[in-house]
Amino acid sequence: MVNIIIFGPPGSGKGTQAVQLAQKYNLIHISTGDLLREEIANGTSLGLDAKLYIDSGKLVPDKVMIDIINIKLEENKQVQGFIFDGFPRTVPQAEALDNLLNQKGMTISKVLALDVSVEELKKRILKRGMTSGRSDDTDELIIDKRVKEYEEKTKAAANYFDRQEKLSLVQGEGTIEDTFALLCEVIDK
Ligand code: AP5
Ligand code: MG
Repeated sequence: MVNIIIFGPPGSGKGTQAVQLAQKYNLIHISTGDLLREEIANGTSLGLDAKLYIDSGKLVPDKVMIDIINIKLEENKQVQGFIFDGFPRTVPQAEALDNLLNQKGMTISKVLALDVSVEELKKRILKRGMTSGRSDDTDELIIDKRVKEYEEKTKAAANYFDRQEKLSLVQGEGTIEDTFALLCEVIDK
């Protein structure tokens, strides 16, 4: 069983890379951003609540996110492993994931942290915003807020895994193909 976290600031390529890694290593891809957007599209009460946070670039409360992950782990029992994309995003989420996995006899194998400059992140998100229909992709102030949330709350989760010696920093500024090759190199080690 291999459980990987793909980590990084907004727009760093987590989703793009996670889809390809899931295919190559036969992993279940869990993107909390995609799950929340699905809830919004379905008009659930969870979605309506989450939309308020997402539209202002803020993180959704930990309790909501941990419950979502727990459901997904329960839904996928006989699998080769998971790739977590966009989760955990805070230290309490990281601790909760460790606990949930431990209870099921699993553990995080590796945390791959994409390193991309803020300038490039903003360029990528604004470009996607022209077609994505994502409300949080078009307004520069909201993009700034997302980056700020990452700096203030999410980076600490990387340090949490660094202390467990599971964190690998991977250059994510190159092409999609270059970055994929670098990520595979770390996983295969
Ligand atoms: P989420 O959906 O996770 O968004 P995000 O982390 O802000 O990042 P993105 O999905 O925008 O970027 P990405 O890193 O996946 O990059 P991508 O591959 O798409 O979260 C959205 C919101 O939901 C949060 O703000 C929060 O409110 C809430 N939320 C979600 N999870 C939460 C949690 N755990 N706790 C609390 N709240 C949570 O690439 C970006 C673009 O760049 C694409 O257009 C892509 O084609 C392009 N691209 C990718 N790689 C390259 C490359 N190498 N070169 C050029 N372009 C590239
Ligand atoms: Mg994403």
